[in-house]
Amino acid sequence: MPHPVQFARVFLPRRNVFLYDARMAAAKARNGFPILDGAYPIIGHLPEMYRRFPALCARGLAAHGPLFWIHGGPGAPQLMFADPRAFDILKHPNASTSFYSEGFSALLGNTLFAFDGDEHRRVRAQFAPSFTPAAIRKTDVLQIVTEAVAGGIDRWIDAGEIDPLIGAKEIALEIIFRVVGVPVSDLKSWRRQYSRFLLAGIPSRGKWRGPLYWIAKRARDWLDARLGKMVDDLRASGDASTLVGAMANARDEAGNFLPTLLVVSNLRLLVFAGHETTASAMAWSALHLAASPEFQRRAAEEVRGSGDLIELGTDPQRFTFAEAQFRESLRMYPPVHSVIRRATADLPVDGAGVIPRDTLVNVPFVHLMRDPSRFAEADRYSPDRFTERPRPSTLETAMFGGGPHFCLGYHIAIAEGTLFNLHFAKAMVRRGVRARLSVDGPLPGPVYLPLSHPPRGLAVTFEGGK
Ligand code: HEM
Repeated sequence: MPHPVQFARVFLPRRNVFLYDARMAAAKARNGFPILDGAYPIIGHLPEMYRRFPALCARGLAAHGPLFWIHGGPGAPQLMFADPRAFDILKHPNASTSFYSEGFSALLGNTLFAFDGDEHRRVRAQFAPSFTPAAIRKTDVLQIVTEAVAGGIDRWIDAGEIDPLIGAKEIALEIIFRVVGVPVSDLKSWRRQYSRFLLAGIPSRGKWRGPLYWIAKRARDWLDARLGKMVDDLRASGDASTLVGAMANARDEAGNFLPTLLVVSNLRLLVFAGHETTASAMAWSALHLAASPEFQRRAAEEVRGSGDLIELGTDPQRFTFAEAQFRESLRMYPPVHSVIRRATADLPVDGAGVIPRDTLVNVPFVHLMRDPSRFAEADRYSPDRFTERPRPSTLETAMFGGGPHFCLGYHIAIAEGTLFNLHFAKAMVRRGVRARLSVDGPLPGPVYLPLSHPPRGLAVTFEGGK
């Protein structure tokens, strides 16, 4: 399912779409910044972004320098900022995300994603303590991850062949549902209602709300009623031993619980933000593992004779090969290819001019994570880049964003991907199988929209076996 950032990119509503496209196609510059050529009428640069997003950034950079307009679909002109200075925008108080709730109120209204400034700080401060590495270890998260990945991978091997993206999505959705408190026996009906709720990602406002909006809204009411009851029950029992319990029982500075609807909306956000992203990087990890007998040897060596994989995977003193592989998958293929901010006032950019108020600025992670001046042989998949502890640099975690909206689930995502890779290796050792890619030659590149992910038609097969 698309990330809100991508919805915003493609669908941000504008009244005079057609007129605007025509004007933009004819112009060479806008607000003093050049417009990248090659846009189609109406769909703009979307086809190029779809399969060649990094090449589009490189093309614009070579032609115009780091700041240039692209046309991200109907009525969505964005100022691309293809330079590491773009990260400063994410920290700027005049860079807003509130537009997320304008066309997608049913999906993102009342969530951290769409809050700015003090409101964002206040709400995030209540939830953040539940997402630290220490809190995650204390709650049920790692146990849930372990059960879901171990069970999922066993099913993959039993089947003999798997499309790893489909398989990883199933695992990641199970994890995030169980993390927000859904009983295992109810997963099927939650999956059904959740996929209806995602129709809220089709933008709608006022009189334009069609049947899909109402289907999504009914599903959201279904989910919210159950999440609300969970929150009430957890408050009545005072149980804060699980992640959802800790979030439900968080209190503000005055000692009051947060409004139930606020907690419920943000539990929904966790599901939305936290499963396709992780699934994409897990799928790339599985594909690269299957493509390389050498990686399989190293992965097997790491888990052979190991006891507790949670201990191994969350050891703060070192990167396991499993973690390095997951981080390298995120670097090569950042699932969130870029994020967008709206300037609420003129934004001066160090040495690059002033971005005018109301501009939508695109910060393209796909470009920044392959910057050859920062990553040697940037187009090569090499987990050995990630060998140093204690802390990866800001650039190395940039695919999780920056500034106040930096991914709240970062530690969960890293633990999830690492445990996935460890259990994958362990299951192959235990069952005596090797993984192989269904296609010969180098792995094809990603599809970038709406979230970047492996293209269809790639499978991992399992050979051998006891
Ligand atoms: C590899 C997996 C993941 C990636 C690459 C990723 C990436 C991101 C990015 C780029 C943002 C910032 C968006 C922006 O600035 O506009 C973000 C925000 C967020 N992510 Fe993640 N994410 C991942 C996994 C997760 C997981 C597992 C969870 C939940 C358990 C999660 C929860 C969130 C939340 C709640 C926010 C909003 C934070 C805020 O606005 O304050 N993410 N994520």
